[in-house]
Amino acid sequence: MLKTYSRAWVEIDYEAIKHNVKAIQKRVGKTKIMGIVKANAYGHGDVACAKKLVECGIDFLAVSSLDEAIKLRNNDIKVDILILGYTPKILFSKLNEYHLIQTLISLEYALMLNDYAKEHNEIIRAHVKVDTGMGRIGIVYNDHNKNYDDIKKEYALSNIKVEGIFSHFPVSDELDIDSVDFTKNQIKLYNEVLEKLKDDGIEPGLTHLQNSYGIINYGDLGYDYCRPGLLYMGVTSNDEIATNYDMDLRPILSMYTNVSLVKTIQKGDSISYGRHFIAPKEMRVATIAIGYADGLPRLISNRGLEVLIHEKRVPIIGNICMDQCMIDVSAVPDVKIGDEVCVIGRQGSETVKIDTISRLAKTINNETLSKITSRVDRLEKRK
Ligand SMILES: Cc1ncc(COP(=O)(O)O)c(C=O)c1O
Repeated sequence: MLKTYSRAWVEIDYEAIKHNVKAIQKRVGKTKIMGIVKANAYGHGDVACAKKLVECGIDFLAVSSLDEAIKLRNNDIKVDILILGYTPKILFSKLNEYHLIQTLISLEYALMLNDYAKEHNEIIRAHVKVDTGMGRIGIVYNDHNKNYDDIKKEYALSNIKVEGIFSHFPVSDELDIDSVDFTKNQIKLYNEVLEKLKDDGIEPGLTHLQNSYGIINYGDLGYDYCRPGLLYMGVTSNDEIATNYDMDLRPILSMYTNVSLVKTIQKGDSISYGRHFIAPKEMRVATIAIGYADGLPRLISNRGLEVLIHEKRVPIIGNICMDQCMIDVSAVPDVKIGDEVCVIGRQGSETVKIDTISRLAKTINNETLSKITSRVDRLEKRK
């Protein structure tokens, strides 16, 4: 397929990743970075991001699933890859074939994986997941239920080589007293597990706990790795959430489209499905070639989102359609077919932040980014 600056596309500033990696490293001291590239690196392009991260010296990546990991291997990514989620039994044979590390979802899962490995005379590499409060996967170890013996059992499995142990934060982004207490208690519980293992003569292996907000708000915790996704992409989940440290980040993604048609409409004419926009006077309207099937949320229709054309801000009017939407260009002279429109990013001195779209869509940047669809070409940022 021809990749061009044609209909709707994103440009990724892979050089900005370098800058963001440096900013993360400054915050976490000697802790190394495990780059999270799951979900196509939240829509940015997993292979290209992985390659850039490796170029920055990162020696560990993590994905959510086996197919994501295999895609990286097939594109010549050779560093360690941890699968953070579930690999079904039918695919266990692929783990060693592609030199991957599997998260132990539960003791039951670890036993199943061990049975497979024994039967096939394999040793499978794994990291133990401890659930200190996320309530998702891992062996529960919280104030009510400390299943330490189950963790020990995972380390003792004959055909699984446990090389690391990790946990995950659900509220490291919140700075209210309850959330900070909760997160600090998770750190305490995780450390307690590490101490118990050492007391029992078990080497825990690589330790890692912090996601992006865990890095921003909690800094250097002294573990072997941290696990940022968003931060190396140069954004946080929500710009309105206060943090206790200012990271110097550069967003790596911009999004563009082109004008396909320009026309004059009269007072009373309506625009798009539902006729939710009625022209209050004669107007110049441009149709642009991007819609909700590209990842521009339909929910933000008629909420005043402004995009950039000729370096000026103009509003989207009417409902966003699947492949197209309309903008009011009455205040911008000489708009014509083929003109470039910036939907996320910078044009001249004006900027549209992804966060503005996410606030209007009442979601987080993680979701807005990862919903940019596959038909949108990912191109390297123009010089
Ligand atoms: C286990 C785990 N670690 C790290 C991350 C990275 O999170 P963030 O993008 O907030 O850094 C995720 C993402 O959801 C995750 O599930």
